[in-house]
Amino acid sequence: MGPPARAAAFPPAMSRLLIFACWLLCSAWAQADAPRPPGVAVATAHPEATRAAIEILRRGGNAFDAAVAASAVLGVAEPYGNGLGGGGFFLLHVRPKDCPKGGAKCEARDIMIDARERAPQAITVKHYLDSEGRPRPRATLDGPLAAGIPGTPAALVHVAERYGRLPLSVTLAPAIRLAREGFVIHPPYRQMADWRGEALRRDPESRRIFLDDGFVPGDGYVVKQPELAGTLERLAARGHDGFYGGETARRLVDGVRAHGGVWTKEDLSAYRVIERAPVQGRYRNLRITSAALPSSGGIVLIEALGILEYVDLARMNRSERAHAVIEAMRIAYRDRARFLGDPDFVAVDTRRLLSPIYHARQRALIRPHTRARLVGQDRETGAEGSNTTHLSIIDTDGNRVAATLSLNTSFGSAFTVPGTGVLLNNQMDDFVLLPGMANTYGLVGSRANKLAPGKRPLSSMTPTFLESDDRVVILGTPGGSRIISMVLLTTLEVAEGRGDVADWLRQPRYHHQYLPDRLEYEPGALDRASLDHLRKLGHPLREIRPYGNMQIIVWDKRRGRLQAVSDPRSTGEGKVVLGVPAMPAAAGGE
Ligand code: DON
Repeated sequence: MGPPARAAAFPPAMSRLLIFACWLLCSAWAQADAPRPPGVAVATAHPEATRAAIEILRRGGNAFDAAVAASAVLGVAEPYGNGLGGGGFFLLHVRPKDCPKGGAKCEARDIMIDARERAPQAITVKHYLDSEGRPRPRATLDGPLAAGIPGTPAALVHVAERYGRLPLSVTLAPAIRLAREGFVIHPPYRQMADWRGEALRRDPESRRIFLDDGFVPGDGYVVKQPELAGTLERLAARGHDGFYGGETARRLVDGVRAHGGVWTKEDLSAYRVIERAPVQGRYRNLRITSAALPSSGGIVLIEALGILEYVDLARMNRSERAHAVIEAMRIAYRDRARFLGDPDFVAVDTRRLLSPIYHARQRALIRPHTRARLVGQDRETGAEGSNTTHLSIIDTDGNRVAATLSLNTSFGSAFTVPGTGVLLNNQMDDFVLLPGMANTYGLVGSRANKLAPGKRPLSSMTPTFLESDDRVVILGTPGGSRIISMVLLTTLEVAEGRGDVADWLRQPRYHHQYLPDRLEYEPGALDRASLDHLRKLGHPLREIRPYGNMQIIVWDKRRGRLQAVSDPRSTGEGKVVLGVPAMPAAAGGE
């Protein structure tokens, strides 16, 4: 049989040319036609970080440059939550104008930069066990054995070199300045230092840098980090090699090994961020783009929303609604525990977990008057607060960043590598050490998240974009295992469209993560009738202190309005952040 008539009409080269010309015209048209934000907006957990992002935007940087600057500053000013010794996930929406350097022209696209820490090659489970094979208390939480190979420095370099417009010498300058000149501590710093005081006191470098003569510093205390400034300078001057090679790498390896760790030069030089396709899904009128594995965030979020898709929440009373949402959380978090881990080490059927057919099957587990019977053994936990950090940024071209960055628990491993100012993470605790053993957030897991050399531990960080025809929302938060349920509750608010962004953030939160089998809720999150109903269904209930520190940007395309709002729960002065520098259509915020 000959070729089809249409194909015969043009020689292949000619049709390729026509397709290319059409693509060029169409994308130029689409770009010209795409609405643009009326200004820029930045929401971070610290005013210094917001200031840095705005400074960079004023100097001609795009959202990616601003994210590099803000992330680096957060690493200096929030040492309890994130920094060069940690990792995280950057979700990027890249407009055609800022296609990757050296690449072909591209259409607008979403990319996840996976900067999660990796287990060092020489690590084994035995490193965390005593001579009788029992887990040594806090072995995955304190000291250099608790630390994975950091990803944040590689991400800063990657984002700047591939998507930014400015050199690292410019974007890292605010962080270098702040590390050298120091920053005045704010209430969250004191809370976290108090909470982690014992471990900080045990490590001479951490004690010297982060405490005042062994005590939690008082109001007005200035933390200076000259060694960290030097490390940032080497990163700015030499890019990836400035941290993962040369002097910094030597000091990191020597310092870690001298204190019982197992890092090698090769662990550092081999570290690379990975560009991954974010996960995508729909809920009602919203398109959801969120973190892919090795974060469980996007998958659990989209599965829970998929389960709720045909549940008419709006027509339910408060206790019926709470029951349905809690069941969706339990079912989706159970799949986290059963199936999820680093996709470079284990096969995860992500397509199935994101499919509406699977969601319909899971939805069928929900019954109006009883809890779904989800088998699993309960474990106790010591889940904690709101360290880690999140930043949301949009620029006038519509480039966006949602980035969640972490050292894991407060002040990470509490071990600072001598001569570098780098406080290391304790992200190794996010692995499943032994079958059935819960991590510090009470999360259990399967073989999929078993510790292995070179592997990335499963995360809950959930930087997310929500989009409808008339709105773009950029959001994320710290909060350990509760991150996903926080983003879920906010997504439900966005979809229901009641009130504005400040109202969404004010809503008290509740959380169920399958195991431990208990429902946690902020004061006022559930009314008396709902609590009675949930208790009758058999939920152990626990009221807990407010948690989370969400940073949200909303671009209302119809009204041409931008808002940036920080979580009212955050106690620092860096609460609300909106920057529209010298832009005519300045937008609201708080
Ligand atoms: O990756 C994770 O899921 C955790 N290590 C994040 C830690 C966190 O959010 C701490 N904040 N309370």
